[in-house]
Amino acid sequence: MTAHPPPMALLAELTHRCPLQCPYCSNPLELLKVNAERDTNFWKAVIDEAAALGVLQIHFSGGEPTLRRDLPELVAHARGAGLYTNLITSAVLLDEARLRALAEAGLDHVQVSIQGADAESADRIAAYAGAHAKKLEVARLVPKLGMALTLNAVVHRQNLDRLAEIINLAVELGAGRLEVAHVQYHGWALVNRAALIPDEAALARADAIVAERREALRGELVIDYVLPDLHADLPKTCMGGWGSRFINIAPDGRVLPCHAADSIPGMSFERAGERSLGEIWDASDAFQRFRGTGWMQEPCRTCERREVDFGGCRCQALALLGDATATDPVCHRSPHHARIRETALAEAAAPPPEFRYRRP
Ligand code: SF4
Ligand code: FES
Repeated sequence: MTAHPPPMALLAELTHRCPLQCPYCSNPLELLKVNAERDTNFWKAVIDEAAALGVLQIHFSGGEPTLRRDLPELVAHARGAGLYTNLITSAVLLDEARLRALAEAGLDHVQVSIQGADAESADRIAAYAGAHAKKLEVARLVPKLGMALTLNAVVHRQNLDRLAEIINLAVELGAGRLEVAHVQYHGWALVNRAALIPDEAALARADAIVAERREALRGELVIDYVLPDLHADLPKTCMGGWGSRFINIAPDGRVLPCHAADSIPGMSFERAGERSLGEIWDASDAFQRFRGTGWMQEPCRTCERREVDFGGCRCQALALLGDATATDPVCHRSPHHARIRETALAEAAAPPPEFRYRRP
């Protein structure tokens, strides 16, 4: 029993290694090297602890988790512990034999990312020749092997005008769900913001396409639509609230409240295996720091939405304002909202610069 309601999901970041170079990557700017990664037994122990804690789902993620040869073993272990298993992958390293091995290990669900609607532009965004064709080949196999398929498309000014084709692609591949997610601007995405941020007219067109296609595809494809923060007036409830629903484990075993939490200076993170996950969840400084509402400044402290969005995203407040305790500037009540929004919209109105790619 934990003092706080237990996490619903565990994000297991098995590695930071990745063959792709997406300019909006949500991994940290400084990536962990292979020699920092934890071994199979470490992850099995984490899975057992998470299941005992009450976690229901595990998301195998990265970097690119299929770089780990022990992935089928970990999937089988998670299934044996009663967890719903999801693989978040670029799919470029998979083939039928590897996918079949994962299906036989008990993998329930595969989330394949795509970078665009056509090979030329998608491969340019990922900086990986042949990625798009490979993704389609693998994605098509997922339902055939009895696993649920979600297609994940991060959208921005360089692919948003092809949204209708991306939706058609999801239908054609047999996906049950399509996640259309506007870029979240921290980490690499903030470095590339001017190259990624769409203008308001492009956004309005995309909103209309989603509304129309959702209706037309009712019962066939679920479309999740993650709206862009910098065009909004109210922030999202990031991570469902800090220390509320998710527990993330970095490749080196550090336990984080969100995938970007180690961008926040002055925070220390405990490692799984050195203390129980339940104790880390309940009592560690990292999880307590922004849990609930006690840490808030004005205007959040007295706002009626404080237990709805919990002040928005801590990592975004840090990235845009240099202060992780500030109200997320996406919120119209933040004193910085107008300035941040105007800067972002000015970038959207100017021609996009070249991408700055992450090089390992
Ligand atoms: Fe949310 Fe804070 Fe804005 Fe209120 S002031 S809506 S709690 S971010
Ligand atoms: Fe860290 Fe939002 S990404 S709190």
